[in-house]
Amino acid sequence: MELNIVILAAGQGKRMKSDLPKVLHPLGGRPMLSHVLSTARSLQPERLVVVHGHGGQKVIQAIADNDINWVEQTEQLGTGHAVEQAIPQLSDNAVVLILYGDIPLITNETLSGLVSLVTEDSFALLTVHVDEPAGYGRIVRDAKQQVQYIKEEKDASDKERQSNEVNTGIMALSVARLNVWLKKLENNNAQGEFYLTDIIGMAVDEGLEIKTMQPQCVDEVLGINSKSQLAYLERSFQRRQAEGLMRQGVTLLDPARIDIRGEVRVGQDVTLDVGVVLEGEVELGDNVYIGPNCVIRNTKIDNGVQVFAMCIIEEAKLGRDSRVGPFSRIRPGTQLAENTHIGNFVEIKNSDIGDESKVNHLSYVGDSTVGKRVNIGAGTITCNYDGANKHRTIIGDDAFIGSDTQLVAPVEVREGSTIGAGSTITQDTPADQLSLSRSPQKTIEGWKRPVKKKI
Ligand code: UD1
Ligand code: CA
Repeated sequence: MELNIVILAAGQGKRMKSDLPKVLHPLGGRPMLSHVLSTARSLQPERLVVVHGHGGQKVIQAIADNDINWVEQTEQLGTGHAVEQAIPQLSDNAVVLILYGDIPLITNETLSGLVSLVTEDSFALLTVHVDEPAGYGRIVRDAKQQVQYIKEEKDASDKERQSNEVNTGIMALSVARLNVWLKKLENNNAQGEFYLTDIIGMAVDEGLEIKTMQPQCVDEVLGINSKSQLAYLERSFQRRQAEGLMRQGVTLLDPARIDIRGEVRVGQDVTLDVGVVLEGEVELGDNVYIGPNCVIRNTKIDNGVQVFAMCIIEEAKLGRDSRVGPFSRIRPGTQLAENTHIGNFVEIKNSDIGDESKVNHLSYVGDSTVGKRVNIGAGTITCNYDGANKHRTIIGDDAFIGSDTQLVAPVEVREGSTIGAGSTITQDTPADQLSLSRSPQKTIEGWKRPVKKKI
């Protein structure tokens, strides 16, 4: 049967105390609504409708996917009214699944299960048992345990409130039937709203069976209304991702102290120490080790690479068996070939570093092409920027750059060159020679240290 999905996302989210529409607040680095959309798409619906309201244009701009039918609900008159706005976008003979932009962790497994419960004369409702049902609509069942209706907390009697089986809001049913029931909704209730939940009672009155199902984990159906709930679900989401990595064989020193805000691909025997943050698309080859407190963004790391503590690496490629850190910063456009060593307090930007080359201490290498087996001594700086333009530094294979050298680009250090420590290199240096620029050392005869005056 054809599947249509409606995602309600018109709520204002006042309790977030933010200018950003609620459904755009990030969870795992992307808007909570994108999580719902991805899960919705995994069910391959023929139509995908999002009902927006407050801040709607911002939401449409931020999401900008062209498979979504956007529908505006100008006034928030209740969940029933919200769904009604979507009806013209739905196909009459479809089953519609109703989701929420602020319930981000719902899974494909739960939803597929729910949708498969829908038949000609039944409708599927996702419920959950909670210890503290306050705030939720209560599921009311008869003596035979059949669902009779849902009562919103504000309208419920003391007895109805005792039920701790609550409505998640997520349901699946025939569009044709939904359409008929929505037209009959009234708003003579405690909140003066058109409650979507009232259709359950109507369905039962018409002799339909309400089939219920529960999610595997309560977090799947928790909504986000406040920063505190956002933080709770962020941890839950990260825990889920950590479990996923461990299932793939990754060693996590502490699964509670890793954050993934994107997509990670891993090889075998990867180890991630505490405080690692992976963002965007990150690829980690076999036997990769990432030390504590590293941030790695949109980077491909080859087999056998070790990244020690406190490194920041973005938009780079780290070649096989290289060693980086501790305290290295690898900036966009950097490619390390195989077996390179990048050490502490070294910044590399937009540069290629050849096989087996080393930049071990306190250096800045920017806009450079460095050959193979090059040794760049401590405190070397490529002066790549003249205040207006950036220029390249080229360093040939087997060059040796002495400590505290400035290479003023554009400049080329030819293969096998040796640069004496403390040099300022402004001209290309010949291959296999020693080049240096250094003022001669002198000694001042008879010089005395000043002494402190006595008063
Ligand atoms: C709703 C359910 C309640 C359920 C609870 C689960 C109804 C009447 N009640 O209550 O049974 O236990 O969710 O969280 O459905 N929305 C719109 N337009 C509107 C109103 C709401 O888009 O006019 C959206 C909100 O953005 C939100 C969702 O619908 O994502 C739920 O709305 P909310 O007002 O929070 O409903 P609850 O009172 O929590
Ligand atoms: Ca709510």
